[in-house]
Amino acid sequence: MDAIPNLSRQKLRAGMIGMGMIFDDTYRPFFEQTHREGLFRRDFGFIDIALSAVASRTGSRAEKYRKAAGANIAAFANFAGADATQQLLAHGVDAVCVATPDDRHFESARLALEAGKHVLIEKPSVLTLQELDTLQALSLKNNVLAKIVYHKLGDPDHKKLRTHYADGNLQHVNNGYCALLEPKSISGSQFAEWIQGRNPGTYVAVHYIKLIDFTFGSLPARSASDAGITTPPLALRPGWRLARITCNGQRGIVGPATGNTWDSVQLQIVYAYPDGREAAFDIHTSWVTPDNFPGYVDQEVQFRFDNGVWAAHQRKRGVEVTIENRTPGELKITPNHHYNGTFLEPWGERSQRGYGIEIIQKFFEELAYVEFAGPPALRSERLARMRALDYNDVSADRNTVAIVQAMEALLTRQARGEPGGLVEVNGPRGGLVLLTPGKAEAAVLYPGTV
Ligand SMILES: NC(=O)c1ccc[n+]([C@@H]2O[C@H](COP(=O)([O-])OP(=O)(O)OC[C@H]3O[C@@H](n4cnc5c(N)ncnc54)[C@H](O)[C@@H]3O)[C@@H](O)[C@H]2O)c1
Repeated sequence: MDAIPNLSRQKLRAGMIGMGMIFDDTYRPFFEQTHREGLFRRDFGFIDIALSAVASRTGSRAEKYRKAAGANIAAFANFAGADATQQLLAHGVDAVCVATPDDRHFESARLALEAGKHVLIEKPSVLTLQELDTLQALSLKNNVLAKIVYHKLGDPDHKKLRTHYADGNLQHVNNGYCALLEPKSISGSQFAEWIQGRNPGTYVAVHYIKLIDFTFGSLPARSASDAGITTPPLALRPGWRLARITCNGQRGIVGPATGNTWDSVQLQIVYAYPDGREAAFDIHTSWVTPDNFPGYVDQEVQFRFDNGVWAAHQRKRGVEVTIENRTPGELKITPNHHYNGTFLEPWGERSQRGYGIEIIQKFFEELAYVEFAGPPALRSERLARMRALDYNDVSADRNTVAIVQAMEALLTRQARGEPGGLVEVNGPRGGLVLLTPGKAEAAVLYPGTV
C-alpha cells in the first residue's frame, strides 16, 4: 500500500448538471446517503461528499427537489438557463456529474474538464470519437478523472458472466442477442423536450454494447489487491477487434414515418478474432412498448460460447406480484429490485439501494482515492491507477463510442432514403468508414484508429 491513511475529515463538493429522471433514480439517493453518513474507507479516511450546486434548463425540478428533500440534503446552489454550467463551475465544485440529454453531454463535460474538475458522465458518454478524443486529452492535461456510468457492469449477474469468462468456464463467445425495450411514456412525455432526431439505440443499446465490449474484450492481466481495491493493469484480450457495424430503424409512432426520430432500432456488431473466426451480436431497442407492460423495461440477453449458453432476463429473477388496481401501472408485475429498489430494512431503516447507485458511489471512491489516499507527491500514481480501470474510464470507451457514432450515421443515411449501409472499422480507408449500397463513395466518419 502506497498510502498513509488520512484520517482527518476531508470534503468533496459535487456539481450536478441535469436534474431529470436519472438524478432522481440514482444520484439523489447517493447524495442523500453521503449527506447522512459520509463516505469512509481505510485508505482515504472519512470524506464528506456534498451536493454543492446543480444546473439545469429551467431549475424548476431542482427547486421542487429542494422543497421535498428538506433535511435529507444540505443547502445547494441552483443554476438555470443557457450559462447554468458556467455558473456551477464558477461556484466552486471538485467534481461534476453530467446527466443531460445524450447529445448535450459533450459540451458540459468539456467545460467541466477545461475548468479542471473531475467528471462523471451518464451513458452514452459522447456521440463521436472526435468528442471522446477531446475529453480524454483534457482529462490528461488537467490531471483529473473522466469516467462514465455503466451500471450494468455492476449487476451481479453480469459480474458472474464476466467471472465465468475470465475463469475459462465459458469459452470463446461466438454470438448473442440483447433486447432492451422502454415504455412509450419515455418517448412520449419524459423525453418530449429532446426526443426530436434521437433514437432508442443510442439511449439504451449502449448498455449492452459496453457489456459485450467489456465482458468479452478486456480481462485483468493479473489480480492485485491494494487495501481492498483491485487495481490491476488491464489488458485487452488478445486478438478481439471490432470489425463492422450495421443497423436498421423504424419510425412512425414517436415522429413521422419519413422523419429522423426513431421508434426502434436493431443494431448488429461484429468482432473478428485473428484466426478468422468472428463473433456477432444483435441488440434490439425500442421506446414505444405499451405503458401497461408488466415491467418498467424489458431486458433480455443470450450469449453462445464454444462450450455453453448464457441466457438471462433482468426482470424475471423470481418476483411476480399483482396488486389490485395498482399493477402494472403504478407498480410493476415483474420488478428488478437489484438495479434500484426502496426497502424497509430488517433493522427498521428505510433505504434505497442497488447497483445503479453503487456504481456512482464507486466513482466517488475512486476520486477520494486519488485526492486523499496518500501524500500529494504520489497523487499522479493514484490517478494513473484509477484511470486504468477500464470499466468506466473514457480511454476505454473507444469501441462503444465508435459503435454509437456508426449507428447514428447509419440512421441518418436511412432517414435520407439510403438504408442498408455498413460501417467498416479500422480498414484501409480509415477508422470508421460508412459504405452505402449502390454508391461508390465511402464516407470517413473517423479517420484515426478506433
Ligand atoms: N444509467 C441509466 O440507466 C440511465 C437511465 C436514464 C437516463 N440516463 C442518462 O441520463 C441522461 C439524462 O437522462 P434523464 O432520463 O435524466 O433525462 P431527463 O429529460 O429526465 O432530464 C434531463 C435534464 O437535463 C437538463 N438539461 C437539458 N439540457 C441541458 C443543458 N444544456 N444544460 C444543463 N442542463 C440541461 C434538463 O433541464 C433536465 O433536468 C441521458 O444521457 C440518459 O441517457 C441513464
